[in-house]
Amino acid sequence: MNPSLSAALQSLQRHASASADGLLIHADTAGVEIDMPAARLRFHHSFISGPVATRAAQSTQLLLKACNNKQRNIDKILDVTAGWGVDSYILARHGQRVTMLEQNQMVYAIVAYSLELLAADAAAGITAGRMNIEHTDATRYLHKLANDHAYDCIYLDPMFSAHKSGAKPAKEMQILQAITANVDIDACFESALLKARKRVVVKRAAKAPTLNQLKPDLVYRAKSVRFDVYLTA
Ligand SMILES: C[S@@+](CC[C@H](N)C(=O)[O-])C[C@H]1O[C@@H](n2cnc3c(N)ncnc32)[C@H](O)[C@@H]1O
Repeated sequence: MNPSLSAALQSLQRHASASADGLLIHADTAGVEIDMPAARLRFHHSFISGPVATRAAQSTQLLLKACNNKQRNIDKILDVTAGWGVDSYILARHGQRVTMLEQNQMVYAIVAYSLELLAADAAAGITAGRMNIEHTDATRYLHKLANDHAYDCIYLDPMFSAHKSGAKPAKEMQILQAITANVDIDACFESALLKARKRVVVKRAAKAPTLNQLKPDLVYRAKSVRFDVYLTA
């Protein structure tokens, strides 16, 4: 095991043993097994195989359209709500460079370890080279961000509220819903609008109101989600 992979594994194991979230975590070179026995939820996190990798390979066109422009010159993206890193992985697979921010320590440690596994993969390692993750609160990060930073696009995917029909999201999203929260998303959105060099993109449930009741410049719609795009240049 290379030194950075081994450091990420040790960090994950440290956080897993101290976790108060009721999660059982098992990590090995195939990925991370995440088990939430109280909710009978279990899933496998890996950018190489399993549900995250499968989801990243499906229906990605709207996200890619929203996070780029006709000139294809949106290169660097700041994903301020990393979660399991699926959206960032999609963007990186298509050539964009992505910095992810995640406020939840355990989610951060899982994704950081999966990224190291991806980097060690002979076929997919090049995508990992375009991705990095930081454990931080996004609003604080944006406040401190220098005005000459390189992020063309700032991407937000706050957790959706429960669906009126009672329909449950995929298992990995149910686990994320149980252990994380939206932290100061309105303030984070305001800061993103001030800082993004070219655009801010917000993923919303199809019928959800816009963030801060602000009308987007462009909207890309799918059946259950939409991407609101705010042009800043
Ligand atoms: C719906 S999930 C994002 C899912 C992600 N787009 C994906 O593809 O897996 C929202 C995530 O944003 C994180 N989050 C919420 N507020 C945050 C903040 N202020 N700073 C950093 N992360 C935040 C939550 O902890 C959660 O993991």
